[in-house]
Amino acid sequence: MTANPVKITDTTFRDAHQSLMATRLRTADMEPLAPAMGSVGFHSMEVWGGATFDSATRFLGEDPWERLRSFKRLMPDTPLMMLLRGQSLVGYRNYADDVVTAFVRQSADAGIDIFRVFDALNDERNLQTAAQAVRESGKHLQIAICYSVTEEGRLGGPIYSLDYYVKKAVRFLEMGADSICVKDMAGMMAPYDAHDLISALKQAVDAPLQLHTHYTSGMASMTALKAIEAGLDVVDTCLAPLALRTAQPAVEPLTVALAGSDRDPGLDLDKLLDLGDRLESALPPYRKHMESPRAAVIDARVLSHQIPGGMASNLVSQLREADALDRLDEVLEDIPNTRRELGYPPLVTPMSQMVGSQAVSNVLFGRYEMVSDQVKDYVRGLYGSPPASIDPSVAALALGDHDPITARPADLIEPEMEQAREAVKSITSDVEDVLTYALYPTTGLRFLRIKHGLEELPDEMKPDSPQAETGGASLRTVRRASDAPPKSARARRFNVYVGDDLFEVEVDPVESTPPVAVSAVSAGGGRPPQAQARPAGGTDITAPMPGIVLRYLVEEGQTVSAGDPVVILEAMKMENTLPSPADGSVAPLPLKPGTTVKKDQILATIVR
Ligand code: CO
Repeated sequence: MTANPVKITDTTFRDAHQSLMATRLRTADMEPLAPAMGSVGFHSMEVWGGATFDSATRFLGEDPWERLRSFKRLMPDTPLMMLLRGQSLVGYRNYADDVVTAFVRQSADAGIDIFRVFDALNDERNLQTAAQAVRESGKHLQIAICYSVTEEGRLGGPIYSLDYYVKKAVRFLEMGADSICVKDMAGMMAPYDAHDLISALKQAVDAPLQLHTHYTSGMASMTALKAIEAGLDVVDTCLAPLALRTAQPAVEPLTVALAGSDRDPGLDLDKLLDLGDRLESALPPYRKHMESPRAAVIDARVLSHQIPGGMASNLVSQLREADALDRLDEVLEDIPNTRRELGYPPLVTPMSQMVGSQAVSNVLFGRYEMVSDQVKDYVRGLYGSPPASIDPSVAALALGDHDPITARPADLIEPEMEQAREAVKSITSDVEDVLTYALYPTTGLRFLRIKHGLEELPDEMKPDSPQAETGGASLRTVRRASDAPPKSARARRFNVYVGDDLFEVEVDPVESTPPVAVSAVSAGGGRPPQAQARPAGGTDITAPMPGIVLRYLVEEGQTVSAGDPVVILEAMKMENTLPSPADGSVAPLPLKPGTTVKKDQILATIVR
């Protein structure tokens, strides 16, 4: 054993498959590996949190709490870690303090030993309640600092300087952190920056330091090695079959690279290789989640524009939907400006989506002519306080009549547990179930109904058989033939080739819109057909881009003034409240909530 071995946290059962295959790995495919993983001698294993909770209940029909308890049973000697998004827990919005406290307590009870807690804005107020709950549970509190860079892509500059990270680490330690993690979710940390950063943090804080990074830009192994040379205590890696690409560095080459050095982690390579083989043989059913259209396993472009890979591909699909893919270069140029004007938020969920879609709006409709409700909330301070101040003219545009808040965002949220208990009491009183509902009222409730036998497990949640993925085709049954609607005259026959197999299928469009209307729209001439005749003399509110009508904020006949909110359009995953362009009254509403609309389609008409 060497004097100062680097410790290894394995992410195979959480971040690795979250990064490469949208968190789809099933408990049943991990359990057979778990006892051997637990005997490798990892410092800890990250097995829960992040998207695992959402994915298990929404897509897999699995109880995430049972997964955790099972891991604890199978790996009693390895500390289990979860990723907790501060006040947002394992969800995408801030929850009330009582939900945060109950969730942490229950997670500790179910088997979590180390809580890695972070906030996308590094705002300590979003970490307070979770940190306190972890301390009260007697478990290890690790607070993670989100790593970000400004335009030049390197450590330093006006915001994300050494000083910024040192101050955050000192502050997080004061909050009771047992260890500090630097969390580089976009894979932007350059090797020599890692050396500088870890050296500075080692001097400033007296606590174990851990590095979490992603391979996205191709630097992660080099970065990990330089961080280890600078004295890093713990590094995140995963088994080779789920390593590299957008996931973590692989543990096997690192083990060999450090062998014999004073940082030799002392892991058994043969054991790791054997585990890798076993993991590999469990992966064929998941191929479809992992296939990439590109040859490159890294996204080298990230190195030039500092825009995380996931964000860049979102932009492309958003622009394609808006039929404006030719404006991608303008959007990429606008992003640094928009980000600076919004106070340099780290480009991680949900900020990356907000900055990206705002940049798209800025290019398509003029700067801040259209601002999503999420960006307005962010500017108000409902997500926490940004690393730098927001451009005053942008703030004025986004705030409108609203005042910014200076309080801790969660202080504005009423307790939510009692209501959650009430909402599911006819199904369950189990606190884990109640928390599942409190976190995800829609998909969580559906899962609870399945779990308690009130609904059947839908086909799409069942495991895919390896046979269906590698050999013949897998066809999903929408409805049995006995109660299917009659075939229409528009049904057409197609030959479908899957590998060497030929299938003959008949395709019958589900929508009732006659084909002629579709071609009229795609030809780009004139407006799409409306459900109802448009009242003469009115002023229309049209969709500035394709999206979904989420809801109307007015009723037919209601009197409105210019600027009053009328309808919420979801576009680019953001909610946009569209105002009335004129004084008048609301004509009959042409669409139902949930309707998908095209650009320029009429959403409402205001008549005098
Ligand atoms: Co990660």
